[in-house]
Amino acid sequence: MSEIQLIELTVNGERHDLAIEPRRTLVDVLRHDLGLTGTHVGCEHGICGACTVLVDGAPVRACLLFAAQAEDADIRTVESLAEPDGTLSDLQQAFSAHHGLQCGFCTPGFLMLAEGYLAERPDASKEEIREVVASNLCRCTGYQTIVEAVDDCASRRRTALQEQLDRRSA
Ligand code: FES
Ligand code: FES
Repeated sequence: MSEIQLIELTVNGERHDLAIEPRRTLVDVLRHDLGLTGTHVGCEHGICGACTVLVDGAPVRACLLFAAQAEDADIRTVESLAEPDGTLSDLQQAFSAHHGLQCGFCTPGFLMLAEGYLAERPDASKEEIREVVASNLCRCTGYQTIVEAVDDCASRRRTALQEQLDRRSA
């Protein structure tokens, strides 16, 4: 019989106590134990990026991490982006507006990659965004619409921040 390990994961602000086999990956536990099926599994080899989630704010391939390695970390999945009433986040709305998805299989990974990246680099140029999204695989869009969506979201966030600053200093 295989060994069982007790771990505690914090996902989308909720704490979960789990009894799992140490060999299980984070993406497997997110999907099968916590029911967070928005995180997709493609290659299971760290290549496609469909399984990207945020671990302490950084985009991480959840198929390459054992769930036990993510103990004590703050994990965010694509389910955390929309408001509880279902209103899509600004980034999700930008993907919709720019047709940044077709089949949508890759989309959760791109959203979490972009969410983590823009938090770190809010003033990223379009060229930088193009380079960053190249780390994930999309077989449908040709990438241009994904780049447009992320760039538009970044630009709207910058404008909103500037308006806040202007109001404060007025
Ligand atoms: S499923 Fe994790 S990178 Fe492809
Ligand atoms: S939208 Fe189909 S794989 Fe990206």
